Amino acid sequence: MCGITGYIGTEPAGEIVHQGLKNLEYRGYDSAGIALTSDTLSIHKTEGEVDELPVPSRDDVDCGIGHTRWSTHGEPTTENAHPHTDCTGDIAVVHNGIIENYDELKASLRATHVFESETDTEVIPHLIEDHLADDISLRSAVQRTTEQLEGSYAIAVTAAGHDGVVVAREDSPLLLGHSDDATYIGSDATAFIEHTNRVTYLESGDLAKLTADTITIYNDGEPVTRDTETLDWDADAAGKSGYEHYMLKEIHEQPRALRQAISGRVDDLSTSVDLDVDLPAEYLQSVEEIQIIACGTSYHAGLYAADLLEEHADVRTSVEIASEYDFTGGRDPWRTLVVAITQSGETADTLSALREAERAGARTLALTNTLGSTVTREADDTVFIRAGPEIGVAATKTFVSQVATATLLAVYLGQVRNTLSTETASELLSGVRDLPGAVQQILDQENAIKKTAQEYAGSDAFFYIGRRSGYPVALESALKLKEISYDHAEGFPSGELKHGPLALVTPDTPVIALLTAGTAPKKTLNNVKEVKSRGAPVIGVSSNPETTSHVDTTFDVPNCGPMEPVVANVALQLFAYYVADEKDRPIDKPRNLAKSVTVE
Ligand code: M6R
Repeated sequence: MCGITGYIGTEPAGEIVHQGLKNLEYRGYDSAGIALTSDTLSIHKTEGEVDELPVPSRDDVDCGIGHTRWSTHGEPTTENAHPHTDCTGDIAVVHNGIIENYDELKASLRATHVFESETDTEVIPHLIEDHLADDISLRSAVQRTTEQLEGSYAIAVTAAGHDGVVVAREDSPLLLGHSDDATYIGSDATAFIEHTNRVTYLESGDLAKLTADTITIYNDGEPVTRDTETLDWDADAAGKSGYEHYMLKEIHEQPRALRQAISGRVDDLSTSVDLDVDLPAEYLQSVEEIQIIACGTSYHAGLYAADLLEEHADVRTSVEIASEYDFTGGRDPWRTLVVAITQSGETADTLSALREAERAGARTLALTNTLGSTVTREADDTVFIRAGPEIGVAATKTFVSQVATATLLAVYLGQVRNTLSTETASELLSGVRDLPGAVQQILDQENAIKKTAQEYAGSDAFFYIGRRSGYPVALESALKLKEISYDHAEGFPSGELKHGPLALVTPDTPVIALLTAGTAPKKTLNNVKEVKSRGAPVIGVSSNPETTSHVDTTFDVPNCGPMEPVVANVALQLFAYYVADEKDRPIDKPRNLAKSVTVE
C-alpha cells in the first residue's frame, strides 16, 4: 500500500523524486523519505505528508529513490519512514509489501547489526550489507537477499559508490518509465506520468539493474525481456485540473469515463456487445455459477452486477467479500467462473481470493481499471473498465464505470448463452448509452446538492436505505460518506430497518432513501413513513415527482430505466463530498486509508 518512486538520469534527482512522491501520496501519506546517491548517500525523511519533506537541495546528484508510507509495521514516525539503511549508512532501501519472515531474519541479524526502526523492511539493507561484504555487485547482493525473503515486496535499492538502482518485485506492483535520457521507477505510472508514458511492467520474480541509459531485467538470475507499452494517459489526466480535490474532479469526469467504458463495445445499429473476451463461447455457455470477488466499493459494484448477471445471463451468481473467500461447498470448479472486480488490480485480498479460485481449478475473469496490474497477469481473461486514472482515495468514477462495464458483461453473457431477448438487450444497452447524459444532469444540480449537504453537515450519523439495486447503492453511498466525512453512515435494505436499526433513528439521524425506478420505490416509501414518524429528516433520491411529497428534500434523477440507481449514486457522491468539505476534512487523503490496499 505504499508508494515507491525513483529517478536515474541527467537532472538533479531530488526535485524529480520529490514530485514523484507528491504524485503518489494517495497510496499512503503518514511519512515519506528520499535517498540520493553518488559517491555518498544522503537520506531525507519526515513523519507526516510529503509537503513536510523539504526538496533535497543536492543539485549534483542524478540518482534517487523515494517512498511514501502507509504504516503496517510500526508507528508513522521518522525512524520508521523509508528509506531504511544498513549499519554503514551506505545502502538505502524503499519497500512496498510485507516481509513475512522478518522476525526470523531480524533475530539472525541482531548479533551483528544494529536496527533503528520497528519495520519489517529494515532487514533488507542489513542482508544486502552482509552479501556486499563478499565483494559482489549490488545486483548480485540484492538477488541473494530476495532469495531469503518470504512475502510480498517491491523494492528499490541504491548504494553509495554503486552505479544506478536495483529494483525487484514479488507480488507488489512495480514499473519502469523510459525517456530519452532517464529511467523512472514507480509503484504505478502516476509517479512519473508528467515525464513519460512509455512504461515496462515488471513481473513477479523480476529483478532489474537500472542506469540512466540501460535497463537489464533478470528473472531467476537469467536475463529476460519485457515489453514496453505506451499508456493512453497524459499528465493532465492525473492532475487536478483546477478542482479543489481529486475526488471532485473525478466525480465530474464520470460522463467521460462512462463514454470511454462504452466506446467501441456496443454496436449502435444492433444490440450486440463486444468486450474482447477471450474465454471461449462454449465454456461461457457451460458455466453454471458465477462468483464475484471484490472489496469495498468494488464489492458494491459486484452486488449491482450480480442481479444483472442472474437475471440476464441466467446464471446463479454470488458476491463474496474477497478477504472472506473460500472455494468450498461442493461447487464444480470447471463450471464456475470467478470474476474479480478491482479498480487497482492490486488489492491483496482480491488477488489472494483469485489465487484460491485458480488453485481450485475455476476459470477467472478480471474487471479492472489498471493496465498491466497484477490481476491482469493472473486472471485467465480481463475486461478493462477504462475510467482513466483515479487518484482520490474515495472511488467514484471507477464505481460507475464498473457498473456500466458489468452491465455490458451481463448483456454479452446473456447473448452468448442465449438467455436474453433482443428487447431486453436493447433496453439495457440504451440505459447504458444514456448514462453519460443522465450523470451530467446530476452534475448540473451540484449547487442544490451542495446546499443540502451544508444543511445536513451538522449531523454525525446517517442512514441510507434502498431495495434491489438501490441496496448496493445505499451501501456505496454510506461508505463514501463515512470514509471522507468520518460521520457514522450505514446502508440497509429498506425492509431491514424495522428489524433493529430503527432503534437508532431519531430527529438527529437523516435518512437517505433510494426511490429510483427498479428499486421497489413504493415499498421503500412505507419505510420512509416509519422513519419520518420517528422524526428523522429524509432525503429522497428519485425520478418520480410523486415521491416528493413524502420526503423533506429530493435529489432528482433523470428517467433512465434500469441504470437509475447508479445515476442516483452520483448525487450521493456529491452529497458526501460537500458534507466532508463543510467539515474541512482532508477529502483526498482520509485518515487511516490509502488508495490501493496491497496487504491482507
Ligand atoms: O482497487 P480495488 O477496487 O480492489 O479496491 C477495493 C477497495 O479498497 C476500494 O474500493 C475502497 O473501498 C474504496 N477506496 C472506497 O472508496
